[in-house]
Amino acid sequence: MDSSKYNLSAQELQTLSSKAISAKAAAYCPYSKFRVGACILTQSGEYVIGANVENASYPVGTCAERVAFATAIVSGHHDFKAIAVASDTKPPASPCGMCRQFLNEFTTPAFPVYMYDSEGNYQVKTMQELLPDSFGPEDFAGERA
Ligand code: THU
Repeated sequence: MDSSKYNLSAQELQTLSSKAISAKAAAYCPYSKFRVGACILTQSGEYVIGANVENASYPVGTCAERVAFATAIVSGHHDFKAIAVASDTKPPASPCGMCRQFLNEFTTPAFPVYMYDSEGNYQVKTMQELLPDSFGPEDFAGERA
């Protein structure tokens, strides 16, 4: 696997985590009161944040991870090094099923997802671990009926 492109320096991980944790403050979550912050590090060394944005019509709300990735994509980024997700829970929140599929579109199986808990401790998992046997853009390359 192409895992070396996903090696973060200690400084990168420190910056990524602190931006994800501080992004929780930007959450709009009057319904769940469950704050989630996210931050993506691009391969070009930029950081893109997101937070969950809820809606009075509950299913319309969006998770922090999708806000961060959509922002990164429309900002012109297409090559990513890592994402950190921070919540106020212990153990930390991990991306929901919809977010795993959304991230799969823009990542590879070795892409790391760092999950931070309320005390700043993290667990890290790859996309392969979070979404095995995924369906993605490459599945459109084959022959279709
Ligand atoms: N949420 C996220 O933003 N990311 C996650 O990884 C888990 C859940 C949000 C969705 C909703 O606004 C709130 O947390 C409660 O589910």
